[in-house]
Amino acid sequence: MSNSGKDSLSRDASLEQGRAAGEPPARANRVSKEYVGGKIVALDDVSLDIRENQVTALIGPSGCGKTTMLRLIAGLEYPTRGGVEVYGQPILGPGPERGMVFQAYTSFPWLSVLKNVEHGMKIQGLPRDARRARAEKFLKLVHLDDFADSYPVQLSGGMKQRVAIARTLAQNPQLLLLDEPFGALDAQVTWEMEEMIIEIIESENKTVILITHDIQEAIYLADRIIFFTRQPGKIKADMPMEFKGGRRFLRKEDLLSEPGYVDMEKLLYQMMREEIQGRVS
Ligand SMILES: Nc1ncnc2c1ncn2[C@@H]1O[C@H](COP(=O)(O)OP(=O)(O)OP(=O)(O)O)[C@@H](O)[C@H]1O
Ligand SMILES: [Mg+2]
Repeated sequence: MSNSGKDSLSRDASLEQGRAAGEPPARANRVSKEYVGGKIVALDDVSLDIRENQVTALIGPSGCGKTTMLRLIAGLEYPTRGGVEVYGQPILGPGPERGMVFQAYTSFPWLSVLKNVEHGMKIQGLPRDARRARAEKFLKLVHLDDFADSYPVQLSGGMKQRVAIARTLAQNPQLLLLDEPFGALDAQVTWEMEEMIIEIIESENKTVILITHDIQEAIYLADRIIFFTRQPGKIKADMPMEFKGGRRFLRKEDLLSEPGYVDMEKLLYQMMREEIQGRVS
């Protein structure tokens, strides 16, 4: 069928069916990704199921293929071998059920904060009143309602990143893909943003895949941590954060005194050191 409206409707229905049947929000099935004619193996035979309503953190040394994995799930790149799926459907490109926040904030400098957040919904064809109401809701959620009429140039880095998160959430993706969203921010702002993300995850009930190189951040935000080895990128460990007992902590310091926290942090540092030393020798 060549009618793209019908195609996208039937795709929505297939995604909904897959979801109802318990298909995972994202699946990598024996995925390899090579660059430069096979000289660089970014991912080597990786299989992974992401679980609904969980926060999964991808961590590992620089160059181990984390961003590549996220871009494959976002539909921005294609595997060299193997397949990626969203709710059981093959990923053929980007889709509205997946929203990505990049490390480097991308905004339209000529649009106000409010209009930046509305923009994606405008493209989706949402009527003006509905998108205004949603934009206001999500600006409030990221504590930027007082800055709706400001322009990006007037905002700090952390505020710009909150606009990016609000804009992505406002488009209502099931699956939120975050590639080191706080990488460029200072420690104090990062801390506030992490707590804000917990609030959002709890209130919006999303599935999140988060890349970070910050071990504390991974433990704080994630229900499950996937550790990737350095090139070629493979899964070294798949670790549910059992010590949290399914809880999410609205205040970061409450996690630090939880039994099991220090052991998990130590284990992840040891794993990171193993990977880095492997590169040196
Ligand atoms: N477009 C590309 N062309 C060639 N090589 C690439 C390309 N994109 C990624 N790579 C290579 O694939 C490997 C994995 O890159 P990727 O960006 O996924 O790593 P990463 O784990 O996200 O690293 P970092 O923590 O530094 O962001 C690296 O060796 C990188 O140089
Ligand atoms: Mg990366």
